[in-house]
Amino acid sequence: MKIFTERTQIQNVIRQNKTRNLSIGFVPTMGALHDGHLFLVKEALKENQVVVVSIFVNPTQFDNKDDLKKYPRTLDNDVELLESVSKDILIYAPTVADIYNGQTVSEAFDFDGLEFEMEGRFRSGHFDGVGTVVKRLLEIVTPDNAYFGKKDYQQLMIIKKLVEKQQIPVNIVGCDIYREVNGLAMSSRNVRLKREYREAAPFIFKTLQTAKNKFGTKSANKVTEWVENEFAKHKFLKLEYFIIADAVTLKSVKRKNKNKKYRAFVAVYADDIRLIDNIALN
Ligand code: PAF
Repeated sequence: MKIFTERTQIQNVIRQNKTRNLSIGFVPTMGALHDGHLFLVKEALKENQVVVVSIFVNPTQFDNKDDLKKYPRTLDNDVELLESVSKDILIYAPTVADIYNGQTVSEAFDFDGLEFEMEGRFRSGHFDGVGTVVKRLLEIVTPDNAYFGKKDYQQLMIIKKLVEKQQIPVNIVGCDIYREVNGLAMSSRNVRLKREYREAAPFIFKTLQTAKNKFGTKSANKVTEWVENEFAKHKFLKLEYFIIADAVTLKSVKRKNKNKKYRAFVAVYADDIRLIDNIALN
């Protein structure tokens, strides 16, 4: 297993592979890998001859310093998990200095308003941080294909906008949400859930599924009201937002249009752990 901590090292290896005309797939992660990440890695392995996985907890995308401090860092375990999938994966696990070169700050981006919806309202500066690190990682790795999960659907749409506006030559692949058997969307944060919150958390996806059924016959407002009431009654989960939005513009929907695609998005606190999820409605 090859682990690189400096951009020049990984760039050398990538260059050698490119001169042999091998396609490069890339899965950027913040580590604390779980089956959801491995699903992305397996997709990348199917579609590319060389796969790079980055493991980097990006400081500029955390609006909450405590969350950054508590973010799980499990490099040895991550390497073992990746090795169980393929010993040929190239791991790039840079230091903050290798990415930020002494200036750990975000660039300011214009994502045509996508950044102001949902997560953007509650996590100030988050998408500038994501845009900054993803742009740098894509410039270092220069992949043909890069893989992102739809659990962070807004992030996926923003990254598509980033590569379009910055003219970064890469194909962005969005992969389906990988769930535990009980429906809970896999997340590196799940390991921090205390027992009663872990048991309560599948309620999030169950509620999204019922909301999807209701959306077939009811207005977005009525469904939203129903979801808000369900969470208001819940003993362990605190709703931050539930929004039904246009799947392309991410703007919340007032009146349904049968020619448009919609998704429901939710952010919930389970104790001090923030969980997000979403579902396609039509
Ligand atoms: O989704 C994540 O894990 C992160 O936001 C990403 C894309 C690796 C950027 O740090």
